[in-house]
Amino acid sequence: MKIVHLNKEEIDKEVSDILIKEINNNNSKIVLGLATGSSPIGVYQRLIDEFKNNNVSFKNVITFNLDEYIGLNADNTQSYRYFMNNNLFDHIDINKQNTYIPNGFVTSDEEANYYDEIILEKGGIDIQILGLGSDGHIAFNEPGTSFDSLTHIETLTEQTIIDNSRFFESVDLVPTKAITMGLKSITNAKKIILIASGKNKEWAVNELINGNVSIALPCSILKMHKDVTIYVDKAINLKEPY
Ligand code: GLP
Repeated sequence: MKIVHLNKEEIDKEVSDILIKEINNNNSKIVLGLATGSSPIGVYQRLIDEFKNNNVSFKNVITFNLDEYIGLNADNTQSYRYFMNNNLFDHIDINKQNTYIPNGFVTSDEEANYYDEIILEKGGIDIQILGLGSDGHIAFNEPGTSFDSLTHIETLTEQTIIDNSRFFESVDLVPTKAITMGLKSITNAKKIILIASGKNKEWAVNELINGNVSIALPCSILKMHKDVTIYVDKAINLKEPY
């Protein structure tokens, strides 16, 4: 696990440069795993800018998003489909049919698992972008989630509901369930980039770097993957040298 400690603008530049380089090196097809939340927005903005400057095209890019709230449709401004269209897809030349988001209307884990089959069919994820929850969750895999999990329905913890309520008018409007790629689905990706941004991630980041691998800290599974880079925002203090 490689750790890079930079300010947020430098992280946005470095991560977007990596993505653009990989996209430009793979003219036939590249599969990206994408995340929502505030952490990757700067990267998406730079991708849009570079597309507008004719430095990258998304015609051969396939994307899979990590998660979606249960019960929100694409028109709902709080849905992750809406977020992705608004923050990236509507501003680049990607074919929207190549942008996959888990279906927020599944009713069972068996139905949810279908998402992993589509990922496999498309050749698997080449680069997965991740954010981090303050409780150490990745995507919506809350503490206690099995490391073998595929895409499934997750009940959100009170902490996650409170954290995400900043995007809603009130905490009662935050959905209590989500469909999320599982920890196995995520670590199947060939390369993983996690962006940890925001002071409220300090505990989780330090646990990830210094603590044990345990289902109590879902992101700790990343320590067992061979190609992971953690970009930590300078606003977060790292406890020990790494
Ligand atoms: C949500 C998402 C996660 C994301 C997290 C952090 O819980 N499901 O995928 O990583 O929020 O969000 P932010 O980047 O806004 O702190």
